[in-house]
Amino acid sequence: MWDYSEKVLDHYRNPRNVGKIDNADLIGEAGSLACGDSLKLYLKLDGNKIVDAKFQTFGCGSAVASSSILTEMIIGKTLDEAKRITNKDIADELGGLPQEKMHCSVMGHEALEDALKKYYGEEIEEDLPAQSADKIVCTCFNVTENQIWEAIKVNNLKTVEEVTNYTKAGGACGRCKGTIQDIIDTYYKAENKKEDAPLTATQKILKISKVIEQQISPELQKDGGDIEFVDLEGNKVKVKLTGMCQGCKNSRMTIKTFVESILKDKVDKNLEVEQV
Ligand code: FES
Repeated sequence: MWDYSEKVLDHYRNPRNVGKIDNADLIGEAGSLACGDSLKLYLKLDGNKIVDAKFQTFGCGSAVASSSILTEMIIGKTLDEAKRITNKDIADELGGLPQEKMHCSVMGHEALEDALKKYYGEEIEEDLPAQSADKIVCTCFNVTENQIWEAIKVNNLKTVEEVTNYTKAGGACGRCKGTIQDIIDTYYKAENKKEDAPLTATQKILKISKVIEQQISPELQKDGGDIEFVDLEGNKVKVKLTGMCQGCKNSRMTIKTFVESILKDKVDKNLEVEQV
């Protein structure tokens, strides 16, 4: 028996934004009835802002909860903001999902990505490797190489079993397991190569901005604070703490350590953080 968070149970029992939007501006689909679950996501826009979102899903309680929370997460966001949402964000917002049910959060993300692709064209997949043209790897569940690659990248998946939990690929006849393992190996080989290559100053600045914006800032915002990246001098990252973080004199060291440890881990182990 799996453990579900209160929030998963709440969204399963009282799903928000169920239904269809007539004259929706964007529609995204993921999964298929033949594979056991499917999701259709409708978005209504005002300019580039999502003003309404509804969903229709056929699937288990986790699929309902993931779809429901996703609509709440994206209503009020711009398309650029929605584009940054990952399946991990959906699962985190639900207070977590059992590993075996993570594929429901992936399905939510895929439906969102499918809708946004119609707005952005193929740009949304620009960082995928050239060799991963969208070919089907798992014919039992209709899962493509790009979907597996994306799930590995976002969720740091290391084993075939984890990939199955997140995408369903490999969960029936098992014929595709060897290919999934090859994709995992190729992904980490490419990642290790990237790590070995030193970053240029511009690449470093871009990477620091991205990590601060996507990983550090959302954490500080939970406590009413925030952080701004000011400059990079050598290996010194200059940042400004704002909101509640500004007054946290006693915990400045803790915040500095927190920010520094993430930047060291994600960008460069030689980075140091200085508040300005
Ligand atoms: S081809 Fe993937 S489980 Fe059958």
